[in-house]
Amino acid sequence: MLRTHTCGQLTEKNLKQEVTLCGWVHRRRDHGGLVFIDLRDRYGFTQVVCNPEDKSIFKVAETIRPEWVIKVKGTVSKRLEGAERDDNPTGNIEVRVKEMTVLNEAVTPPFEIDQAKEVNEELRLQYRYLDLRRERMRNNMLLRSKIFQIIRSYFSGQGCVEVDTPCLIKGTPEGAREYIVPSRIYPGQFFVLPQSPQQLKQLCMVGGLDRYFQIARCFRDEDQRGDRQPEFTQLDFEMSFCEQADVQKMIQGSIEAILKECSTKPLKNGKVETFTWQHVMDNYGSDKPDLRYDLPIVDISPLCKGCGFKVFEDALGVKTGTVRALRVPGGAELSRSEIDRWTELAKEQKAKGLAYILFKAEGPQSPLLKFFGEGFLDKLQKATGAKTGDALFFGADAFRVVCASLGKIRTEAAKRFNLIDDSVHSLFWVTEFPLCEEDEDGSITFSHHPFTTPNINEWEKRHTDPLAVHAICYDLVLDGYELGSGSIRIHDRKLQQEVFDLLGISKADQEKRFGHMLKAFEYGAPPHGGFAYGIDRVVMILAGEPNIREVIAFPKDQKAKDLMLGAPSVMPKKQLDEAHVKVVEA
Ligand code: AMO
Ligand code: AMP
Repeated sequence: MLRTHTCGQLTEKNLKQEVTLCGWVHRRRDHGGLVFIDLRDRYGFTQVVCNPEDKSIFKVAETIRPEWVIKVKGTVSKRLEGAERDDNPTGNIEVRVKEMTVLNEAVTPPFEIDQAKEVNEELRLQYRYLDLRRERMRNNMLLRSKIFQIIRSYFSGQGCVEVDTPCLIKGTPEGAREYIVPSRIYPGQFFVLPQSPQQLKQLCMVGGLDRYFQIARCFRDEDQRGDRQPEFTQLDFEMSFCEQADVQKMIQGSIEAILKECSTKPLKNGKVETFTWQHVMDNYGSDKPDLRYDLPIVDISPLCKGCGFKVFEDALGVKTGTVRALRVPGGAELSRSEIDRWTELAKEQKAKGLAYILFKAEGPQSPLLKFFGEGFLDKLQKATGAKTGDALFFGADAFRVVCASLGKIRTEAAKRFNLIDDSVHSLFWVTEFPLCEEDEDGSITFSHHPFTTPNINEWEKRHTDPLAVHAICYDLVLDGYELGSGSIRIHDRKLQQEVFDLLGISKADQEKRFGHMLKAFEYGAPPHGGFAYGIDRVVMILAGEPNIREVIAFPKDQKAKDLMLGAPSVMPKKQLDEAHVKVVEA
């Protein structure tokens, strides 16, 4: 090694030792002839001091600039009294330089490495290798690495085999658009990058591996959001001869191991709770509510018949129609423009509007009051507990629309009124999801993925009321983020075909797209189930970061581009020809 110690290592225990350090010039200060350099590497900072009496060293010291890479040899000395720093483990010592070598010069970086000040994200992503030198990214990378190690050690300790599955596969439907890769050898044919290793891990179970895990890269060509990336990393797990509770126990154990090592916050109520999908949707309008605050939604449908307000009365007439209210404590102070913004948010969730009442000190205020029949306002207040100072917001529509819009308003209200208890984690399971949901065009699609077992006791209902059939599947939610999902899988060819039939996949398509699964199920597939959680999301939450880009070394930006590499990019014609790809100008 070019060095004897790292820049975070030396303390008073090393006094008088001769050491060699390598690193980046973090800061250089001239002080009455002496030149002080904060030398930085991944491990920390060490102050090195150059004395003007040593002319050759001093000449180098005077020319060096921030981010130059240097090597210094010198003696560990105690800092002058009063110059010690207790915010740095090396704060009591300095290295008196005897030799200094410039290993590499650096041009002025586009942003300062040594300052915590905000830098435009585009610039950070473009120069990610410089951004990685900054404390925030370094800490996030270290945390991510630690979590990888905890996961590996936990699942290996549970007897799981780590299997790396291929990235060039035939598609796995998980609801997102797939990235496709043209085959050079087979013109006109394509591989698909996995949305997850779902089918392959199931085939590992058919292969008798019994317990599997993988830290798997997944690819989904979907719209970017703070908690989504086109490629991301899952902890993927599968086990044989198990029931739902066994998978949950295994997964929960791994998350608890991570929290124990990487967080100081306790769990809310001291435990991991379990709620049904119906319960969280009814009460919080979301299948991944943040329960660090309460803010429940109240079903006021029974009060609305004949209430006088047509919007509410009409909503009860539509399929799954319902009217629900959200009480926002302190909400009476919301301004007109804030309510307009919230109304837009509700409309983004397909609501037709966002009816509201503000309970001002001078009396309730709302454009709706004139429509309300006698006594309706009193009934509303009684049902919701709304009192002076509060606001009520209403959703009147099909169940899913009301949940989505009021669920969104619930999270906005929590942010606006600082209701989130940041001193705890809220970790819970959501179970008993519906097997299917209705697509916008009225067709039926899977809620999780098509390999999920239906609740067999309800399976007959598929002919009459398919949306009433539940699945043996479960999500894990941490602080309002869906960490992951899993299910007990179908291991029987006939049942798998029935589910494909329900999803409207023709027999020919079943064979073409999933023939390999159906065939494998004929060769003694064991009962099995599993789970996957997004590691990026786990790291993001524990690092207290607002989005997963902050915890990924080289992420795509919000427009799915790699700004550092400049990808995606145009390909030379020769390469396109080889891949039998012809670009059609848009
Ligand atoms: P699912 O599709 O729910 O399940 O994905 C599991 C978890 O992966 C994370 N995730 C993402 N993270 C970042 N960016 C994305 N675009 C993204 N998409 C998903 C989330 C999510 O909860 N095969 C099933 C699991 C199983 O049944 O075993 C699956 O992939 O944290
Ligand atoms: P309108 O009668 O359309 O002018 O609506 C009166 C009020 O009710 C407005 O504040 C709308 O935003 C709101 N509103 C309209 N439709 C709905 C709905 N389906 N759910 C909740 N609020 C609504």
